This record gives sequence, structure tokens and C-alpha cells, in this order.
Amino acid sequence: MARGKLIVFEGLDRAGKSTQCASLVSSLQARGHAVRHQRFPDRTTPIGQMINAYLTGASEQEDHVIHLLFSANRWEVASSIKADIEAGVNVVIDRYYYSGCVYSAAKDNPSLSLAWARQPEEGLPRPDVVIFLDISPEAAAQRGGYGAEKYENARMQQRVRELFKSMRELGEEKEDFVTIDGGEEQEKVAAAVEAAVLEAFGRVDQGSLPLRAVKPLQ
Ligand code: TMP
Repeated sequence: MARGKLIVFEGLDRAGKSTQCASLVSSLQARGHAVRHQRFPDRTTPIGQMINAYLTGASEQEDHVIHLLFSANRWEVASSIKADIEAGVNVVIDRYYYSGCVYSAAKDNPSLSLAWARQPEEGLPRPDVVIFLDISPEAAAQRGGYGAEKYENARMQQRVRELFKSMRELGEEKEDFVTIDGGEEQEKVAAAVEAAVLEAFGRVDQGSLPLRAVKPLQ
């Protein structure tokens, strides 16, 4: 039996990640694949509830502390993601450690660089493909404006977009990212996503490639 694949969606707020995730999950299921749909932050766990309180302004957290809570929120399900993949279940994730790094680094805290932010993520399951839905902050804002959560403002989104570019050039991330224009029509984006994901399926299955872990930067 083929192992499941780990597929991640990334992008700015309002890039269309949730819509495209749902569409990919349905199309994989229609092809007969078992799929688990996961999102980060996972606000259902006790750590996720602390993150939710921070994002909605109900509590304050020091920059490094909230960063480590976001990371812990991934580690608390990392082993179940691995188990599912070994059992042949494909895992589609809406945001992963790339968001974790860029949103924290966007605060421009001198002791919280992109490289510092990436360290607690080392060892997490490494995606087989990361779909980056690219959209300008202006086009994203036109999609009904930003919500009221912590990072949903134009300055933060602009900085996050720049840092996503740096992140795509970091280490192994360079090989993993597929950038798709998220400003296009929904169906066109969905077709591009499906093509990129099927390419990743073929690559993993033909090479019998094992699930890898996120490596430290060289
Ligand atoms: P959501 O809107 O996808 O639920 O994400 C909530 C916010 O949390 C979003 O602005 C991105 C941010 N975020 C981080 O700052 N660090 C992380 O590790 C993750 C997964 C999200």
C-alpha cells in the first residue's frame, strides 16, 4: 500500500487557502483517496485555546511565547499526522510552520529572526508539497476586507508577504514550494493545485520516497 502524502497550503490571509483546501479534499476523495483535513492553528486543543485568546485580543503573550505555543500546537498532532500517513491517509493542511515563522518574524523583534523562529519546527513531518497561493495584500483586502484578528492589517500582511518570499529561498523549502497565482478564478486555481498535487503523488509513489522530517538549516 502506498503511504499517504503531506500537502500544505500557505499564503496571506484571504489568499483562498480554505476554499482551495476544501476543493482539493473533495477531489482527492472523489478519486478514492483517504484524506484528513487539518488546520493550524488547531483551536480545539488547550494550547489552541490559548492561541485563540491571543488572536482575538482576549489575552496578551510575549512574542517568543506565542511563537512557541503555535509550534507546540503543531507538535501535539505531529505523531498522529505521521501515523495517518503511514496508514495510507493523505493529510491536507491549511497553514503550517511557514506561517509560524513568517508571522512571528514579521513583528520585527530583533531577537526573533526567521532562522530563530524555524528552530522549534525542526523534526516536524516535512511536506511532500507546499502550495503557496500568492496574492497581493491589495487584492486580498478587496476580498471583503480583513477581519478583526491580531494580524489582519495591511502593514502586517505586506511584511508577511516579503517574508514568505525569503522563506521560499531558505533551505529545503526552496524544493518544496509550488507558487500558484491565488488572484485567478477559483476553478483555474483549483486545476493548478490539482496538477501540482498529482505531480507530487507521482514523484513520491514512483520513487517510493519516505516521509521526511524538517531538517536544520545548513
Ligand atoms: P487562521 O486565520 O488561518 O486561523 O490563522 C490565524 C492567524 O494566525 C493568521 O493571521 C496566521 C497566524 N499564524 C501564526 O502567527 N503562526 C502560526 O504558526 C500559524 C499556523 C498561524
